[in-house]
Amino acid sequence: MDIEQKEQLYEGKAKKVYATADKDLVIVDYKDDATAFNGLKKGTIVGKGVINNRMSNYLMQMLEKHGIETHFVNELSERRTLVKRVEIVPLEVIMRNVVAGSLSKRTGRPEGDIPSMPILELYYKSDELGDPMVNADHALAFGWATEKELAEIERIARKVNDVLKEFFAGVGVDLVDFKIEFGRYRGKIILADEISPDTCRFWDSKTKEKLDKDRFRRDMGGVEGAYHEMMRRIGLK
Ligand code: TMP
Ligand code: ASP
Repeated sequence: MDIEQKEQLYEGKAKKVYATADKDLVIVDYKDDATAFNGLKKGTIVGKGVINNRMSNYLMQMLEKHGIETHFVNELSERRTLVKRVEIVPLEVIMRNVVAGSLSKRTGRPEGDIPSMPILELYYKSDELGDPMVNADHALAFGWATEKELAEIERIARKVNDVLKEFFAGVGVDLVDFKIEFGRYRGKIILADEISPDTCRFWDSKTKEKLDKDRFRRDMGGVEGAYHEMMRRIGLK
């Protein structure tokens, strides 16, 4: 596909976004930069941009096959993908199948506990405030999303969880939790952003070894190896 990359529109912690000649399409360019704790911790995970780009595109295409509309259009290169230009809903949606991370801290339940149902959480996207946890009332009352949009976001998030949980179980990986974001596109809510070891917790089903960004957040070493192992599990290398 012959797509001309135009001016940079935005640079985030892990990605850059560029305009194209088509006002409805933008190019996402994945970096190797890694941050944690709202940017307090900084580093590089060599090759991460390539892995996250390819893995996210693979998973988004899988979700499309299950009837979930995503921003994915076309992979342009190792690190760059053409996506629909959406208006991002300022909510981070987290789905949890296993207790870990901030849920463990907040509730005192040990990491590894299995809640009786998947848990959906909402966080308000604000670097300034450190992405605080909020609820549906906050989102409605402050106009971050309409009631209809919120219902759609919850429905899609649970469906994404069902599809991904089953897929990862098949390759020997527990999908512990993940974060997704949504955008508005031509009047619809669609899945945007990325799905990668940066935004998911992956544990080896047998050993419970961590195969995701927690290795970076928690200074465990073996970060690059874990990202590559996830690519192998998925069959992308
Ligand atoms: P948490 O346990 O720290 O709240 O994280 C839950 C999941 O969300 C985990 O898979 C990592 C992901 N996540 C992000 O992708 N971005 C973030 O800014 C945070 C805090 C978590
Ligand atoms: N990437 C996020 C940050 O820099 C958080 C994380 O993934 O832990 O704050």
